[in-house]
Amino acid sequence: MTTISVIGAGYVGLVTAACFAELGHRVNLLEIDHERLNALERGILPISEPNLPEVWQRNLAEGRIRVTGNYIEGLLNSRFAFIAVGTPSTKNGKPNLKWVRLAVKNIAEAASEPIIAVIKSTVPVGTGDLVARLLTCHGRNGHSFPVVSNPEFLREGLAVFDFMHPNKVLVGASDRNAADAVAELYKPLDAPIIICDNRTAEMSKYVSNVFLATRISFVNEVARLCDEYDVDIIQVAKIVGTDPRFGGGYMSAGLGWGGSCLPKDVKGFIHMAKVRKVNLPLVRAVKRINQQQPGVAVRKLRQLLGSLEGRTIGVLGLSFKPDSDDIREASSIFVIRLLEQQGCRIRAYDPAAMKAVAKILPQVTYCNDAYEVAKGSDALILATEWDEFKELDMTIIYSLMHQPIIIDGRNIYDPEKMSQIGFIYEGMGRHGIREKRAEPVLLSSAQKDMEPLLRNDLVISRESSYKSGS
Ligand SMILES: NC(=O)c1ccc[n+]([C@@H]2O[C@H](COP(=O)([O-])OP(=O)(O)OC[C@H]3O[C@@H](n4cnc5c(N)ncnc54)[C@H](O)[C@@H]3O)[C@@H](O)[C@H]2O)c1
Repeated sequence: MTTISVIGAGYVGLVTAACFAELGHRVNLLEIDHERLNALERGILPISEPNLPEVWQRNLAEGRIRVTGNYIEGLLNSRFAFIAVGTPSTKNGKPNLKWVRLAVKNIAEAASEPIIAVIKSTVPVGTGDLVARLLTCHGRNGHSFPVVSNPEFLREGLAVFDFMHPNKVLVGASDRNAADAVAELYKPLDAPIIICDNRTAEMSKYVSNVFLATRISFVNEVARLCDEYDVDIIQVAKIVGTDPRFGGGYMSAGLGWGGSCLPKDVKGFIHMAKVRKVNLPLVRAVKRINQQQPGVAVRKLRQLLGSLEGRTIGVLGLSFKPDSDDIREASSIFVIRLLEQQGCRIRAYDPAAMKAVAKILPQVTYCNDAYEVAKGSDALILATEWDEFKELDMTIIYSLMHQPIIIDGRNIYDPEKMSQIGFIYEGMGRHGIREKRAEPVLLSSAQKDMEPLLRNDLVISRESSYKSGS
């Protein structure tokens, strides 16, 4: 049994702490946010993540997890300090290392024994070197602090599973002994352990996320073409995904990628390139396509409803992905802002994220379930593919709506079945708005003439939402 300190009780820190404890280690979890710390001390987990409560409670009860806000206490007897603090984007896309710097300073000042600093947070290339310098600069006791880059690849919603069953463990260090010591911790997971230098590990993490974002933006671009050529993107993605050179993952068309990682890491990657005066036209396009996706959905709605002024639109799902309460850069928020700009009233429901969204969008009417959202709505937009939305009784939804229009922003429904019920169904890249379904379209010819102008307007709107600090 080793004593491990984990710095930061967010999605990564909580899962890392719980899972290392589950592997039999003693874990000290350090958190500086008082509200979060108080909640944890009262046994309340501040995030919603499947399977985490069970693992957390079991290890807490068995005395393997201790939560503290005190670095001296939190680092006592620890051999490792895993840094899992946030690295959000600043306005110009630069990753903000304020919390990493603070954690490093605190570690250097508080460590009573030599300790291995392990960077789990996603950080720009060269941060390992910076952390090593900061540790030397702030260290009071003359300890040596090897720095290991051990980026995390877990997915929210599957975080505990991903930690316990990683497809690889990446360990970057210039100090081979430190790298081996960190690798040893992961041995029970039976995953390939890749040892490299710090910079390679840091770059590989960014490239992984940028590549995932690229795949999704690519498939979203293809979906626009599928709409025009009467082809279903789901079938196309399935066929293309059978090729082992590509694989089938991250090929779902929809409202775009969001969350705490892909948007900030794409921006961080572009920023890293800018610093070295390298142009990345492909990655910039990946970002731009994503910014346009909410507008694509709203445009579909406008093609069906005409003016959106005064319309009541229901939004199903608010979190950036199902099984998570995380709303950072969630597509739902961009969609709602666009709809509000067009004069819509919004009704919304999400199983986990309403409290968080209500803080930034207080004017939305929050409902108890999807049926309440549907009541009197002129259209529904499915923004997050929670399982409970797949199991809705759509005939009831149909009967409750003012107009039976559904924009399926995550392509979870069967277009034929939806048409049979009587819905005007629009997916993302699932044949587009067909003439035969266009009967209830209320677009006047004047509005049709305006459509090209409105298109441009919507294309830039996600960019302006970003700029307004969302
Ligand atoms: N969330 C994910 O799915 C995911 C996946 C892989 C990698 N990552 C990366 O991991 C890092 C953490 O992400 P997250 O989503 O867990 O962040 P988060 O914002 O949910 O949590 C960070 C936590 O660290 C705490 N904190 C900040 N500074 C601290 C300090 N000096 N001492 C103690 N606590 C401190 C904050 O109060 C917060 O509770 C980021 O770099 C992120 O890019 C995240």
